[in-house]
Amino acid sequence: MEKILDIITRKMQQAFSDAGYDPAFGRVTVSNRPDLCEYQCNGALSAAKQYKCAPIQIAKAVAEKLDAADYDLVEAVNPGFINLKLSGSFLQAYLEQMRTAEDFGVEKPGTGKTIVVDYGGANVAKPLHIGHLRPAIIGEALKRLYKFMGYHTIGDVHLGDWGLQMGLIIAELQERQPELPYFDPDFIGDYPARSPFTLAELEELYPTASAKKTDPVFAEKAHTATYELQQGRRGYRAIWDHIMGVSLPDLRRIYDTLDVHFEQWLGESDADPYIPAMVADMKERGLAVESEGALVIPVAEDTDKKEVPPCILIKSDGSAIYATTDLATMVQRMEDWKPDKMLYVTDKRQALHFEQVFRAARKSGIVTEQTELEHVGHGTMNGKDGKPFKTRDGGVLRLEQLIADMTDFVRAKVIENKIVSDELVEDTTAKIALAALKYGDLSNQPTKDYNFDLERFAAFEGNTGPYILYTIVRIKSILSKYGAWESLPIRAPANPFAKELMLSVTKFGSTMEAALRSSAPNLICAYIYDLAGAVNKFYHETRILGEEDKEKQAGYIALIALAKNILEQCIYLLGFSAPDKM
Ligand code: ARG
Repeated sequence: MEKILDIITRKMQQAFSDAGYDPAFGRVTVSNRPDLCEYQCNGALSAAKQYKCAPIQIAKAVAEKLDAADYDLVEAVNPGFINLKLSGSFLQAYLEQMRTAEDFGVEKPGTGKTIVVDYGGANVAKPLHIGHLRPAIIGEALKRLYKFMGYHTIGDVHLGDWGLQMGLIIAELQERQPELPYFDPDFIGDYPARSPFTLAELEELYPTASAKKTDPVFAEKAHTATYELQQGRRGYRAIWDHIMGVSLPDLRRIYDTLDVHFEQWLGESDADPYIPAMVADMKERGLAVESEGALVIPVAEDTDKKEVPPCILIKSDGSAIYATTDLATMVQRMEDWKPDKMLYVTDKRQALHFEQVFRAARKSGIVTEQTELEHVGHGTMNGKDGKPFKTRDGGVLRLEQLIADMTDFVRAKVIENKIVSDELVEDTTAKIALAALKYGDLSNQPTKDYNFDLERFAAFEGNTGPYILYTIVRIKSILSKYGAWESLPIRAPANPFAKELMLSVTKFGSTMEAALRSSAPNLICAYIYDLAGAVNKFYHETRILGEEDKEKQAGYIALIALAKNILEQCIYLLGFSAPDKM
């Protein structure tokens, strides 16, 4: 469906042309004086220079050519603005088209295209911590948005399951239980099916080992173990399987509570088989060169303002690193899925890494000229005081704990306010808590840091997730009292509040487009906050269920139903949903 601004602009251009002026001057924008009009065109001011006459003269001539039925107000005002207010019939027709079209008539630029969204980025053997919240929920929202916009989407968690952390665990386990068969190089039997450690033990093993990195003897052991694991040493591979077996179900469980779902659970280890051929090819073509014992791909460009160091492919000790697995993963993705785009959501401190990797991938032809590569670097979530988020004892807060804190806080409110009957408390609580958490995050520009404020995020008033849910629940309740509403057509607005609401509804398509273009779920949040505000204003100023004029009432119901459907679509894209009661 054509976006409303495009329609008005098209009509304005026609009017310029009909009045004898260049249609290029007919661009219309949303009014910056909402007290005077809804839309405006400033084209006469620029046209006046070209046609050497007074802008107001042009504005008047153009205004005369516009179709009066489209507008409640068409006004040429000094020095040469054209102010517009849309007519009720215009809005009615537009919203009715939105109501009956698939997905509210949004355009689908992604049709026929595939995108890989690489997000989540959990590291195996380490519990998810608060640093994993943002990549999970921003990535999920972007993936859902891309899908809505027509793309075939593949979300890949890209587990950190191949680095030094694996070697550290192996070395630590060996110190504790050297008698295990995994460490006996001559062992040829089957390794035990049961893991030598539980999840709780694994979660203790890793930080203990990690703290010993400063001990050169231990560090050497861990590096050797990492190298041997990557070379395929059987016993180490068996330990690796145990680590995965113990760790993955826990990661899945927590992502599930966040309603974050990956189509692919691949990781750095899955890229490993692609490394030898990739490296050999890069060497052969002279793309990768020796530098201080390491193998690197120079990626600096003349236009660089800051130094961009070469992308390291193989370290001097022969091991592959983060960039190596990221490049090899691209090889795998291109072979298996031929994506048109790959989008990565990680902490913005990884920006240089992705710049290097993207350049190396282009230079070496792993991706084509047309393959789009985008890194969405997010900012940090800090504590309420703006300082880095820490537990009371100075440790890193577990993501699970953060979710539990939010859930407990919301549950207490749900119980205290007697919102729902006992058996619905948990489900309602979970929905509100998720909305609070996700909206609190997503309403910020991804690149910006923000402060996590449990009380503020969970409030039922203000710019919060629960406020949006509350608005949806309010509409649902009116609709269920009214009865069958699904096929009621949109009518012309019967009061100014209905009109405001209709104008807000029309912005859906352009919002989706802008959010996609700038990878900005925060634009969807801003939109639904505006839309929810218009709904609530309309609700307070209008008798809906008490309206005696049945036609008028049906129009009100059709309008709030459309608003509800759009709000629900938007929160689905943001990754949460509304309860029936609140
Ligand atoms: N595991 C990484 C980390 O914790 C994030 C992975 C992001 N994705 C990627 N393809 N590099 O920093």
